[in-house]
Amino acid sequence: MSTAEDTRAHTYDGIEEFDNRLPNWWLWTFYLACIFSVGYWVFYHTLGVGNLPIEQYAVEQAEAAAMLEKRAAENPVTRESLIELSKNPAVVAAGKEIFQDMTKCALCHKPDASGNIGPNLTDDYWIYGNDPMTIYTTILEGRQPDPAKGFVGGMQSWKPFGSMFVQRATAYVLSIMDTKVPGKAPEPNAKQMAKSF
Ligand code: HEC
Repeated sequence: MSTAEDTRAHTYDGIEEFDNRLPNWWLWTFYLACIFSVGYWVFYHTLGVGNLPIEQYAVEQAEAAAMLEKRAAENPVTRESLIELSKNPAVVAAGKEIFQDMTKCALCHKPDASGNIGPNLTDDYWIYGNDPMTIYTTILEGRQPDPAKGFVGGMQSWKPFGSMFVQRATAYVLSIMDTKVPGKAPEPNAKQMAKSF
């Protein structure tokens, strides 16, 4: 066993090095860290029982979205509730999935919402208005032709898919409002409006 007086065999420029034993407290923290790391590795990586921080974050996001959606499903739709949904990433992601489905909104508005048969939803020109409740009503009820008022129509009602479907789609449209994706020119009867929330 080495003592505090023992030195290592080498000398550099006359400098010697003690050959002390590592302190027990230090060794213990080292051994415990080794043991802990095995448990950690098995728990999180080998068996995958525990959620890594990024996964845990996703779980908490999904829980928050589920709570928000439950409340949205139980309460009347308001301007504020729609704005709140449009700021929740998980709800917006669900709305995006609906929107980009080629059998749904993307068919007429394109997956990037830049417009095709339907208008560009990312510019600041609106036919019916850009208030959250107006957008919700447009998607819920659709818009039928009304020659007297100069409305072309052709936007179908999504009511059969249920209120939550419409609220998610609305949340997505609100989240991309004024992002100005280059695309279809504003409709002749559209008016330029500033985002109001
Ligand atoms: C069959 C084609 C079609 C589909 C599918 C469709 N839209 Fe439309 N949408 C239109 C047309 C056409 C208009 C313009 C109506 C008009 O000029 O009267 C419109 C208008 C709108 C408007 C109002 C734009 C404004 O300037 O006021 C919103 C918002 C909208 N659509 C969202 C959606 C969403 C969300 C979906 C999917 C759930 C969807 N649309 C699916 C054709 C479609």
